[in-house]
Amino acid sequence: MSGAGEASRVSEDRASEDRVMARALDTPAPNTAEFGAEPGGDLVVAQGWAEYTDIDHVIWRRLFERQSQLLPGRACDQYLAGLEGLGVAADGIPDFERLSDILDRATGWRIVAVSGLVPDHVFFTHLAARRCPAANWIRRPEQMDDPREPDAFHDVFGHLPMLMNPPFADYLAACGRGGLKALALGALPKLARLYRYTVEFGLIRTAEGLRIYGSRIVSSHGESRYCLEDPKPDRILFDLLRVMRTGYRLDAYQDCYFVIDSFEQLFDATRPDFAPYYEILARLSDVAPGERLAEDGLYPA
Ligand code: PHE
Ligand code: CO
Repeated sequence: MSGAGEASRVSEDRASEDRVMARALDTPAPNTAEFGAEPGGDLVVAQGWAEYTDIDHVIWRRLFERQSQLLPGRACDQYLAGLEGLGVAADGIPDFERLSDILDRATGWRIVAVSGLVPDHVFFTHLAARRCPAANWIRRPEQMDDPREPDAFHDVFGHLPMLMNPPFADYLAACGRGGLKALALGALPKLARLYRYTVEFGLIRTAEGLRIYGSRIVSSHGESRYCLEDPKPDRILFDLLRVMRTGYRLDAYQDCYFVIDSFEQLFDATRPDFAPYYEILARLSDVAPGERLAEDGLYPA
């Protein structure tokens, strides 16, 4: 239901939100990463939900609104369905426990709060146990487009919708186990590339066109347009060994993205034991992010 009264209340909210944002831009950034409990061995901290300020919640709502408008027609159906299933997250930074209960019912995953990036073995141990580490802090107003590290918006808005999808939720847990195994085999950089080029930066070909499923992209206003619409990056058809040979960029949008035909293709390709692949890869040269190989298939074909 919506009427004139509703509309003016919305624009009043908007004006007061603008004032909050303007004030925030004049205020030095508090060290939100420090609040919460002392980290234990798994580096899990309390979310500290009560300590979020109005500014934090406004930033969340702005980001949420902006991306929800942009993603229909750009993100894949599985992502959009998952986002809808997590509807409670639209109001402000959600309480991770409440959100975990919804996620848990769908796929057995839960969120654990962390104060920032965690070491690889901690990260993959969480994934293997179906725990999604999520930063408890949110970016400052001057970093709306590029938080210096993944924040709560990236971790929750970016990752949780795909984790509502049972087969993808299994894939990410398998990735966690695969990460621990790769670590033991000295092959973590290879597995990390697969993780990045699928979970974070993955694209999928659908009957309606190219769509995004990668979490880093869906949580980025700029990259969700760039990866689909900009002529610059290569969109290379997914090939497991090719992906694991390819370096990636940490400091900018990617020079190349890998396109899967279907999630089944991804799950089938990653089901086998990787130990023999790691041996093959040890003998193959790495490929630079912007480089093309003669055997690459490109999208559109
Ligand atoms: N099958 C991989 C292995 O044996 C594990 C894995 C699964 C990695 C899914 C990534 C994604 O190492
Ligand atoms: Co991420």
